[in-house]
Amino acid sequence: MRRIVIIGATSGIGLEIARCYIRKGWRIGIAGRREEALKKLQYSAPDQIEYETIDVTSEDAVRGLERLIEKIGGMDVFLLSSGIGSQNKALDPVIELNTIRTNAEGFTRMLTAAFNYFKELREGHIAVISSIAGTKGLGAAPAYSATKRFQNHYVDALAQLAHIEKLDIKFTDIRPGFVATDLLKNRDYPLLMQADRVAFRIVKAIDKKQRIAVIDNRYKLLVFVWKLIPRWIWERLSIK
Ligand SMILES: NC(=O)c1ccc[n+]([C@@H]2O[C@H](COP(=O)([O-])OP(=O)(O)OC[C@H]3O[C@@H](n4cnc5c(N)ncnc54)[C@H](OP(=O)(O)O)[C@@H]3O)[C@@H](O)[C@H]2O)c1
Repeated sequence: MRRIVIIGATSGIGLEIARCYIRKGWRIGIAGRREEALKKLQYSAPDQIEYETIDVTSEDAVRGLERLIEKIGGMDVFLLSSGIGSQNKALDPVIELNTIRTNAEGFTRMLTAAFNYFKELREGHIAVISSIAGTKGLGAAPAYSATKRFQNHYVDALAQLAHIEKLDIKFTDIRPGFVATDLLKNRDYPLLMQADRVAFRIVKAIDKKQRIAVIDNRYKLLVFVWKLIPRWIWERLSIK
């Protein structure tokens, strides 16, 4: 039985991915801060799921991950779906710094722990849900877009490090466009996707060990165009 750990499985994309892996018959270690949601998911497939309450911003998060790996008898795939994001045109520093704490500091804490676990085995698979928001700096969400860029680069760096160290660790950087989850706080966004459909595509990308997966094709085109826009034009665009 294959084993996956999913951090950020209490709602949204992570929850839907966990449901896909239940159907695939995997053993699943789930984590997040909301224990009630973790318990509820575990109750839906008690033979397959174990959980740990983990806050990625806390220093003892790595101990929690270790306990979770032990509970499911090892880990083949590590998936980080935890993240927060807010529009912050008022540039409230509390929002900016909390976003950095979760999406950069917490992300690094968990990824280094997963990398070091797989380093011992000399193989493994690390997948992260970053975002297309990392493609360009977004005026409406500075810390969110900057931390997503950080995540893209961090995974690139770890992939190179694995190569330097001759480790057979695979990496999948998943970059979805807008998905209807709590993160969007019921705001209206264009090209909105449903979390269950997105999760289905993500699981396919992980199965195929795809290095980078932009979801879906419409967003792939959008990212392609965004990347072509010169900085002096980008900075004059009103992207809300
Ligand atoms: N929705 C979108 O449009 C969209 C687009 C591109 C990328 N993404 C990315 O997809 C990922 C999942 O987001 P989502 O859309 O599914 O939103 P969501 O429903 O709000 O899910 C966020 C998940 O992250 C967990 N989380 C947040 N802070 C945490 C912390 N400090 N420690 C541990 N877990 C934490 C939450 O669990 P607890 O609250 O229980 O801790 C929850 O399970 C995020 O990284 C997000 O940036 C989302």
